[in-house]
Amino acid sequence: MNVNISIDKPFYDEEIIKNITDTEDILILVNKYNQLPSSYEPSDLINVEGVKMKSEAGNKLLEMMEAMRNDGLKIIAQSGYRSYETQKSIYNNKVSSRGVEEADKVSARPGHSEHQTGLAIDLSIDGTLEKTFGDTKQYEWLNENAYKYGFIMRYPLDKIYITGYDYEPWHYRYVGLEVASVIKNENLTYEEYLVKYKGLY
Ligand code: DAL
Ligand code: ZN
Repeated sequence: MNVNISIDKPFYDEEIIKNITDTEDILILVNKYNQLPSSYEPSDLINVEGVKMKSEAGNKLLEMMEAMRNDGLKIIAQSGYRSYETQKSIYNNKVSSRGVEEADKVSARPGHSEHQTGLAIDLSIDGTLEKTFGDTKQYEWLNENAYKYGFIMRYPLDKIYITGYDYEPWHYRYVGLEVASVIKNENLTYEEYLVKYKGLY
């Protein structure tokens, strides 16, 4: 499994980085081994409460946030689609303030962020993105229910060695109900799911 995911290889190794061609696929894999073209922008972005999302993901996000609010929980869509250029400046700012090694744990290099697909959303209660989000009622709700709307928590604490990112309890990726259900039931990362069920890599 791990070798098929490539975790025996260094992240961002130019020798093995794949250029993603099927960019509109909802089941796209974007990580430190797979990159999007710098020019790629999703064809069907919609506005959802101040962020842009790929339409299917955006509609489900709206449903999910409404369900949370119906259960008495505040929630904000903090960051959705981000262009290559936006990601580049976020990443470069992190490198300037914290150095490459630390930046790579918390921010994707341009072309390697799921946010460029329009399928990822950062959720917040108060406009901040902190690990303490993982101790809130909102997180508990998402942990229980996000899959019903097709979302998975993408960067879990116990899978840092696979994803290459620190714990991000606020970052959710849309993969659709069927895939999200399997990932939740089996406690998989998206990489593990793709290797196990799609024979990927
Ligand atoms: N923080 C996530 C990994 C991103 O930059 O896409
Ligand atoms: Zn995110």
